[in-house]
Amino acid sequence: MNKELLKKQAAGKAVEEIKSGMVVGLGSGSTVYYALEKIGELISSGELKNIVGIPSSKQTEKIADKFNIPLVTFDEKQEIDVTIDGADEVDKYLNLIKGGGAALLREKVLAQASKKLIIVVDESKLSPKLGTNWPVPVEVIQFAYALEQKYLESVNAEAELRKYDNGEPVVTDEGNYIIDANFGALQNPFEIAEKLENRAGIVEHGLFLHLTSKVIVAGKDGIIILDKK
Ligand code: A5P
Repeated sequence: MNKELLKKQAAGKAVEEIKSGMVVGLGSGSTVYYALEKIGELISSGELKNIVGIPSSKQTEKIADKFNIPLVTFDEKQEIDVTIDGADEVDKYLNLIKGGGAALLREKVLAQASKKLIIVVDESKLSPKLGTNWPVPVEVIQFAYALEQKYLESVNAEAELRKYDNGEPVVTDEGNYIIDANFGALQNPFEIAEKLENRAGIVEHGLFLHLTSKVIVAGKDGIIILDKK
């Protein structure tokens, strides 16, 4: 089955969890796009009322505007009922690698402010061990990027500054750079996370550990739900 159709199915299933009156965290990426589209439809048909969204990126903010989803900021609401977001890699413990779209910092802020984090993916994102298919995106301040790249190499990662096609470094919504740190398949993601959290120049990383409530996986044989045990 077509991958876009799978993403749409997973997103549609996740949107069933949204009820009128909720504060909804809006993740980023191509799978979440379908969730935004569906939320917009339900608002315009009147099935969902008094919903407000908090977007995790400027890109999502634009898409939410397009679908007439009312938005607020953390100035107005500090607790999110449910966040729907995508992921780049998912393991059987519901731990994730995120940040393929460079929105990991705001996404993690949303995840930590959410009562429930629902991840929507197609089956190609499932992985026996995080790091098998995707490096760990690491958000660093511009001032220190060369230093942090060296640090990442010293802890055995192949570390590459993410660039646009024109050769310029990718700049995140918060004005930082991204270094993609390839450690290979991670035996212990918590140990790697700790190494990344001890550096002043590293703002955040794309390992989302113990944050997910549920993963909705769409595959050719249907939808599978992975729940937190
Ligand atoms: C954005 O920074 C990412 O964390 C995305 O949520 C992730 O890359 C999933 O995107 P897709 O749904 O487009 O694969």
